[in-house]
Amino acid sequence: MKLRLDKFLADMGLGTRSEVKKAIRKGLAQVNAQTIREPEYKVDTEADQVLFGGQPAAYREFEYYMLNKPAGVISATEDTKERCVVDLIESRMRKDLFPVGRLDKDTEGLLLITNDGDLAHRLLSPKKHVDKVYFARIRGRVTEEDVECFRQGVDIGEKKRTLPSELRILEAGEISEIELTIREGKFHQVKRMFQAAGKEVLYLKRLRMGPLVLDESLKPGEYRTLNTQEMDILC
Ligand code: URA
Repeated sequence: MKLRLDKFLADMGLGTRSEVKKAIRKGLAQVNAQTIREPEYKVDTEADQVLFGGQPAAYREFEYYMLNKPAGVISATEDTKERCVVDLIESRMRKDLFPVGRLDKDTEGLLLITNDGDLAHRLLSPKKHVDKVYFARIRGRVTEEDVECFRQGVDIGEKKRTLPSELRILEAGEISEIELTIREGKFHQVKRMFQAAGKEVLYLKRLRMGPLVLDESLKPGEYRTLNTQEMDILC
């Protein structure tokens, strides 16, 4: 891909567009061992060797991070009051990262953070019915009737019932533990489904989204880039 030198450097988080323009004019950028002072100079992102301030700068069009979202952080890119999931990705280079889908502020677990809009669309499109698997702790005894009810679809106050979902009871008691697979992403869907069954979600964690499985070695708040296997199955 051919890209202006100032955009290349700004996209890689090396300064704002006007900061990198100034730096280029001062002679801080080199392409293939030549000092380039024109911000509009076209760089071949695959073939050219770019140095900025003497340091190599490789271009990455897309970044992909798996985050174990902690509670207390919102699934947004910026907010005036709240901490956002994108702020947790300290090693990010690009400024255009966003979370693929939303988890509630108090929900933990798998969140993909990227700037790849096509991938996000493939995972989020309502027509694709991508599986999302959640672990939850529920106030109240989850029963086989709940399993059957969830399998048939639940009335959560929308025009249509939810699509059939798979509820697996891991532990039934005053506080139950379950795993739930849904194929939609309606607002507060898991909480509303249990509310419809007269129960309350006390803790919610996403374990899987489509083929992407939460790396359980990531503690809440930790993240890593996707590995090549994960990239292969997603992209
Ligand atoms: N369903 C919910 O109720 N909350 C989430 O964060 C995700 C799914």
